Amino acid sequence: MGKPVLRTELCDMLGIEYPILSAGMGPSLIGERTGAPVELVVAVSEAGGLGVLGASGYTVEQMRDAIREIRAQTDKPFGVDLLLPRQMVMMDDAVVDGPKQLPLVEIVKTLPKAHYDFYLKVKEEMNLPDIDTLVPLDSTTVRPHESVNVCIEEKVPLFCAGLGNPGFMVEEAHANGMKVLGITGNSKNAKRMADSKVDLIVAQGHEGGGHTGRVGTLALLPQAIDAAAPVPVLGAGGIGDGRGVAAALAMGCVGVWVGTRFLATEEGGALDIHKKKIIEATDEDTRRSYLYTGKTSRANYNRFHDLWEDSGLEPLPFPTQVMFASAMVESFNKAGKTDYIGAFAGQVSGLIKEIKPAKEVLEEMVEETVDILKNKIPKYVA
Ligand SMILES: Cc1cc2nc3c(=O)[nH]c(=O)nc-3n(C[C@H](O)[C@H](O)[C@H](O)COP(=O)(O)O)c2cc1C
Repeated sequence: MGKPVLRTELCDMLGIEYPILSAGMGPSLIGERTGAPVELVVAVSEAGGLGVLGASGYTVEQMRDAIREIRAQTDKPFGVDLLLPRQMVMMDDAVVDGPKQLPLVEIVKTLPKAHYDFYLKVKEEMNLPDIDTLVPLDSTTVRPHESVNVCIEEKVPLFCAGLGNPGFMVEEAHANGMKVLGITGNSKNAKRMADSKVDLIVAQGHEGGGHTGRVGTLALLPQAIDAAAPVPVLGAGGIGDGRGVAAALAMGCVGVWVGTRFLATEEGGALDIHKKKIIEATDEDTRRSYLYTGKTSRANYNRFHDLWEDSGLEPLPFPTQVMFASAMVESFNKAGKTDYIGAFAGQVSGLIKEIKPAKEVLEEMVEETVDILKNKIPKYVA
């Protein structure tokens, strides 16, 4: 049997074989690895999909190096994903005079008293060790303008904005032959992004891993597609195999953006303990909360969720809450308190039973989608 054919207009637009993108996943917290590192990007792009680098945890220079490393390993198209929260884009980039990193333990001392006292109380009660992570002050998230400029200089084929509207950079990106993709969790923002001339929109449903909104994928996709028209939409949130891909295409999506399934591959950047939690999870084992970043995000359930809920603390604005959560999780990690450790993952975790190479995941997804669309569904109609 020859190679299966699964082509949509997305394939022509991006110069790829299959309409499947691995999501641009950054680290869940400071000090962790990015979820979508160079290896995953290269594996997915080489297999005929399009891999997207999760660059939100990198410094600007690390991101540039990673882009060049991808180019050294593949000549296929790829993407880079950054977080562009509106409040950061509206300001100038952070100026870094002096040290380029600060100890997290010092930053935690500057949190509101209630949060710092909570951290100290838990540390004492659970006998947790000191933390030693250094926080880069020149990360892509606090230097959005410089980061975008580097992506433009490097002519990244697909620029993706995880948070915020990338409309401000679309014209320059187009002038450099790039495509721009925005991500939304509701139809209002899908329309807003379409109006700002992005090329593609990812509509991500409530069940997805990482930052996520209130609307479920099945309800969101047709509404986002209508709102964004004529800008094409990719489906995301809860897609883990060919059944999810076929459903998204049936709804009118031009392709899919898959996070958790690619995170839990050999090349995916999740820590081993996180991959294990995904493999062992059922469909009910994630929680959406403000705990990790101050914005609603979905992670696998762990006892830190209970501590947070019982604390009565208000979430701090993004990215200050990230400092709080990162300090707590680093302490849990060092103390081996695995019950209290979790990271971003979607409800689709329950479907994932094995860590495989990303190429295999992609090939199986394609084969299953083709089988459904070619053999199963046509039987239902005359
Ligand atoms: C570990 C992890 C990290 C993520 N980090 C980012 C990020 O930095 N930028 C972004 O646009 N989306 C991020 N996301 C969301 C994904 O891009 C994607 O939309 C989501 O995973 C899709 O849902 P699924 O997990 O059900 O496939 C992250 C998701 C996970 C699981």
